[in-house]
This record gives sequence, structure tokens and C-alpha cells, in this order.
Amino acid sequence: MSKILIKNIKQLVGIDQQNISKKSGSEMKQLEILEDAWLAIEDDKILDFGTMQNWPGITDWSNLEIIDAEGKCVLPTWCDSHTHIVYAGSREQEFVDRINGLTYQEIASRGGGILNSAQKLATVSEQELFDNAMQRINEVISQGTGAIEIKSGYGLTLESELKMLRVIKRIKENCDVEVKATFLGAHAVPTKFQGKKSEYINLIINEMLPAIAEEKLADYCDVFCEENYFSKEETIKILEAGKAYGLIPKVHANQLSFNGGVQAGVQMGAISVDHLEYVDNEEIESLLKSNTMPTILPGAAYFLSLPLPPARKMIDAGLPIAVASDFNPGSSPTGNMNLMVSMLCINYKLNPEEAINAATINSAFAMNLNDHYGTISIGKTASVFITSNIPNYQFIPYSFGSNLIETVILKGKIVKK
Ligand code: NIG
Ligand code: FE
Repeated sequence: MSKILIKNIKQLVGIDQQNISKKSGSEMKQLEILEDAWLAIEDDKILDFGTMQNWPGITDWSNLEIIDAEGKCVLPTWCDSHTHIVYAGSREQEFVDRINGLTYQEIASRGGGILNSAQKLATVSEQELFDNAMQRINEVISQGTGAIEIKSGYGLTLESELKMLRVIKRIKENCDVEVKATFLGAHAVPTKFQGKKSEYINLIINEMLPAIAEEKLADYCDVFCEENYFSKEETIKILEAGKAYGLIPKVHANQLSFNGGVQAGVQMGAISVDHLEYVDNEEIESLLKSNTMPTILPGAAYFLSLPLPPARKMIDAGLPIAVASDFNPGSSPTGNMNLMVSMLCINYKLNPEEAINAATINSAFAMNLNDHYGTISIGKTASVFITSNIPNYQFIPYSFGSNLIETVILKGKIVKK
């Protein structure tokens, strides 16, 4: 049995003793803190916590590591509920093309974008794909991420989609970050099927989904619902087929236009609808009647200079908001959740408390992980990070661009020190 006791914690942030599953509307401002605290970990679970005035006393010193966190904050690790972290190559030429005036859609219509990544991925071995992805995984762990959702969708053939999902499975088996896998065969219509989209949809439904279900490679099924990609009706059809294999729906919704993606997600009982640059009262009303987590991806909106999702308006209307990095080579080449939390505060006018809840308990909810991640609660998984010396937790979003995370503990193991 291994034990860790973190003592003299300046602020222990994100405590929950009521087993809440998510925070909505005005609840998002509530972030429970303990000043001058300790946190005890046993094996991979949070054992207990309290204030230094109520020091637990140590009777058994065997296998016990004591960490002095004087002047430092402790938070639950970030939950990143939307990434495409498995990919081949990079797309900086498209970045330069956009600087020089082309839009994301124009680049895509010339064979760039997702199809560019699919072409690169087809030529790369599973081992190389895994090695590259692990470098990025280790980078985001050092930035405080403890749970991550990873999508396929740069394969777009049965073989390459399986290759991506097998790499995701290997990541899950090879490190202590918690991984959820999403099948995103409906990310784009591959070149071979241009003008024959319905044939590609049949391939997704009749060949890809059964093979993925057979190997148990995915938890979720996602669709890029957008003009020139998949319509609302096609999205529903694909999500329905995924559901028949036990895959819970997610949707890339309303990123570039009002396309009915939010409504499709709500209708299908999606666990989350993500992006939401084009959201108005109709989408908000629909989400308010649902249990679907609206998820903002500030990295993509920033990198593509898109209009900002109305996160403030959505919270004020009573909705929850989760945040994720969307780490991918085309629209958000970073998985730094600290930066996402900063952006929520700076660009979207969320308070630090709201932004931290969006990146912890609400993004845990968007991966069905809220029973184990997202708060400091007795019995939850011991995945936490310790900051460097900082005045308070508000300093984390304030000092955007810095990595203030000194120590990362995943499932009770110290993985960065
Ligand atoms: O979430 N919007 C669609 N999919 C990705 C971008 C994919 C890409 O450009 O490679 C996203 O932004
Ligand atoms: Fe995405």
C-alpha cells in the first residue's frame, strides 16, 4: 500500500462533499476551498483531507511520502473532454495560408484541412503514431491534465480508423492518464467518396461501427455536423447507428454556422455538444431541456479567429459549461488546459471559479468521469496537481502562458516532480 500526505497546502481547491455531478448556471461560481490544508492519498484514491489545525497525526510511517506544499495550491487535475491528440504530421502551411487571407473552409475545399491530416496518417505506422501521440500526452500531463478524451477521425478508411483507435487503446494501457475513446469516422467525406457521401455513411454504419464494437475500441461516437461535412439528418443517422452498438453520442456542433448540430445532439441524448460558436436563444432553450454538456473549445475559436461562443450568456441562462482543448493539428495545436482556463476568463468573461469548474467537474461530466474525477472528494481517484509558489488559485488563469504546475500525481503516483 502506498501513501502520500501533502501538508501545509496554501489552498486546497475544488472540494466537494456532496457528490455533485456537474455545476450549472450560478452554481458554476461556487468553488469550495480549504486554506492551510492537508490531503491524504492511499494507493490510487483520495483518503481524506482537512486543515492543518486538524492534523491527522501519523501512526503508520511505512510507504509514506510526505510532500510539503507550503505556499502552493493543490487542485484536481484538468479533464480535457475533447481532443484529437493522435495525429500524423502538422499543418503549419495552412496556418500561414490563413494569415494570408484564406479561410478554414477555403483551405478544406482545396484538399487541405482534415483530408490533409488523413493523407499523412495513412502513411504512418501504428508504432510511429503511438510514439508521437505519447510525446503530446506527456506534455499535457506536465501541464496538469489527468483525464482526456481522444477521437479518431483522421483515418476515414476502415483500416486507418482502426489504427487510430488501437493507438488510443495503447495510450490507455500505457499511462496513468484516464482515457476515453471516441469514434469520429464522420469527420469529413474522404476524397475517394467525394460526391458519394451516402456511400461513405454506409461504410461508417455497416463496416466501421461493427468492427470497432467487436474490438471494443470506442466509448463515444461523434460527428462533425457542418455544411460540406455532415448535415443534421446525417448526424442523427450516424449517431443512431453508433447507439445501437452502445456508443454514446457527442457532436461537433455549430462551429462554422447554425447547422442544427446542437438540436441533433440534444435529440440523440448526446453527453456533450462541442464548439458552439454559432449559438442563439433557440440552441440555449434546447440545451436547457437536456442533460447534454455544452462544451467550449477556446483554442479552436482563437486559432481560427472565429466568433466567440456566448459562454457568459449561456451560464447566465442557467446552463453548465465545460471547456476542452480540442488539441489537433488544424484548429488548435495545443492541449494546454491552463491556457484554456485563462481564455475563458479573459475572452469569455468567466470568473476563475467558473473557469476552473468548467475544466474539472463539468469536463469530467462530459466524459462520464464525474464519479471519479473533477473534484477533491474522499474516494475519488487521486489525480491532483501541486502548483509552484503562488499567491492564490486566481493566479493560475491570471498568469496566462506560464506553466505553474510543479508536481503532478496521477492515480496516486507522482509522475512529475
Ligand atoms: O474540432 N471541427 C472539426 N474538427 C476539428 C478540426 C479538425 C482539423 O482541422 O483537423 C475541430 O476543430
Ligand atoms: Fe474537435
